[in-house]
Amino acid sequence: MTRLLHISASPRGDRSRSDKVARRLIAGLGAAEVETLDLAAATLPAFDGAAIEGRYDLIEGRAVDPAVIAAWEGIRATVAHFLSFDTHVFSVPMWNFGVPWRLKQYIDVLTQPGLAFTVSAEGVTGLAAGRRAVLVCSGALDIRPGQPGAELDFQTAYMRAWLGFIGVTDVHELQVRPTYGSPEEVEAAMERAYAEADALAGLLRG
Ligand SMILES: Cc1cc2nc3c(=O)[nH]c(=O)nc-3n(C[C@H](O)[C@H](O)[C@H](O)COP(=O)(O)O)c2cc1C
Repeated sequence: MTRLLHISASPRGDRSRSDKVARRLIAGLGAAEVETLDLAAATLPAFDGAAIEGRYDLIEGRAVDPAVIAAWEGIRATVAHFLSFDTHVFSVPMWNFGVPWRLKQYIDVLTQPGLAFTVSAEGVTGLAAGRRAVLVCSGALDIRPGQPGAELDFQTAYMRAWLGFIGVTDVHELQVRPTYGSPEEVEAAMERAYAEADALAGLLRG
């Protein structure tokens, strides 16, 4: 592992529970280079009408209209930056059963034909193949796998589906739940997540 990008989707700064567990994991991984992308503070390219028109031109193999070139420069740079890392650690709070909107915007900017995936008669090929991802998912409710309500976790399921689409199959997850309850319950959830982060770091370090 050489270059690690920590993508933080929580706007809660130092108070973020998903970030705390992600930072614990990252400290144990010993990557040569670590960069943090704070999505709440980052300026992401807009993904607006012009960019979408250019996207269809790209998918259908037409030249991209010069009017949308500037929009696509920002998008291309964002995808190139993402692909320049070999490991991606996502801290992802559950927001209304899914992911926070800034993370969704980032994913919408990244997921471009010809940049993050290609389509041919054989199907879709993800261009992020060979990379590793770790999902650190937090939520107020204890809907970890195997718990009642686990089927409501569209946050982890969505992130796994998207990573698979862009070709990332080496995916690990840490669940930080429940983060709402008595202080003892929340503390126990944090301690469990830290222990799982330490174990995962040991496994991935080999
Ligand atoms: C807008 C918003 C929506 C939320 N929706 C859910 C939800 O659907 N399910 C849930 O279990 N927790 C929900 N929560 C609680 C957060 O997931 C929880 O506080 C989590 O620990 C936040 O992670 P963070 O500390 O890393 O920001 C929501 C919080 C916010 C701010």
